[in-house]
Amino acid sequence: MLAMHNTAPEPRLLFSRDQIAQRVREMAAEISRDYAREPVILVGVLKGAIMFMADLARAMKTPARLEFVVIASYGTGKTSSGEARLIKDLDHPIEGFDVIVVEDIVDTGITLTYLMQVLRQRNPKSLRIASLLDKPSRRQRPVEVDYRGFEVPDQFLVGYGLDYSEDYRNLKDVCVLDG
Ligand code: IMP
Ligand code: MG
Repeated sequence: MLAMHNTAPEPRLLFSRDQIAQRVREMAAEISRDYAREPVILVGVLKGAIMFMADLARAMKTPARLEFVVIASYGTGKTSSGEARLIKDLDHPIEGFDVIVVEDIVDTGITLTYLMQVLRQRNPKSLRIASLLDKPSRRQRPVEVDYRGFEVPDQFLVGYGLDYSEDYRNLKDVCVLDG
């Protein structure tokens, strides 16, 4: 593990903590306008979304409930397998509620295509997606991102929740991992 870090490339800054904070405030303002006083259920996709979810939820004026799911995609490192499976479900029903799925990044779209299909079957009043990052050039399945922080090129990103084999999640900035 330590040996790997000695040879791993230094992450390169892409979006600074200040740029992220500014964009998250803008997204929260947009959500607050759209939902006014309605309580919304934020569904965070663990683990990548935790930083964004924590900041977004606190920046919103709309009252929010916090739920989390874990989705396994049978992938490690930088590749995903193309299969998704729910391994930790919501704690409460979402029927009749306004729901916003909160993600760190939409890449191939496989994870969110699957999750949206699962959640839609539970009859929420509305269902939208907020993703800090969007890598549209990698899309294999169409996913409409309703609230998008930044569009990013096809590079592997770490930090602010995003990992490379579980490392780098607690970097304060979003960085590019080369190699
Ligand atoms: P998708 O199913 O391919 O859209 O990928 C969704 C998940 O893959 C995201 O929630 C991330 O956890 C992970 N992922 C995709 N791209 C990156 C990246 O550049 N860095 C770190 N994780 C990523
Ligand atoms: Mg994720």
